[in-house]
Amino acid sequence: MTDAQVTDGALLAAADAIAACAYAPYSSFDVGCALLTRDGKVVEGVNVENAAYPLGICAERAAFSRAIAMGYRPGDFVAVAITASPCGGCRQWLLEMGVERVVFRNDENVVTMRPDELLPESFTAADLR
Ligand code: THU
Repeated sequence: MTDAQVTDGALLAAADAIAACAYAPYSSFDVGCALLTRDGKVVEGVNVENAAYPLGICAERAAFSRAIAMGYRPGDFVAVAITASPCGGCRQWLLEMGVERVVFRNDENVVTMRPDELLPESFTAADLR
């Protein structure tokens, strides 16, 4: 499969489908995320909550963690689809991972933005030097 074969609509459909696997007993807010890698793989993630609330992990971070463990690295991601608007912390991850575009549901709309638009004036590795 090449990335040309996975449209943003198909990627969002994958995120919608995987959201059913979310573990969100506390918020009942199921989130799905699907990453499209440059070599055409779709890597999915869901939010996983915990009784100790702050320990829960967002769908985006679950998906990226999975992809990293598969050997993917920042710059390997063409697009990311999310069933919800990404939280502030996940916007920082989207930026770190060098994603080209982020497609997400926001109320009735499907929005497409770049990570630097989602998180302007951000803190990056360059600031550490
Ligand atoms: N959530 C995500 O998975 N991704 C986001 O970007 C927004 C929030 C999850 C975290 C928590 O499990 C639930 O949505 C409610 O905040």
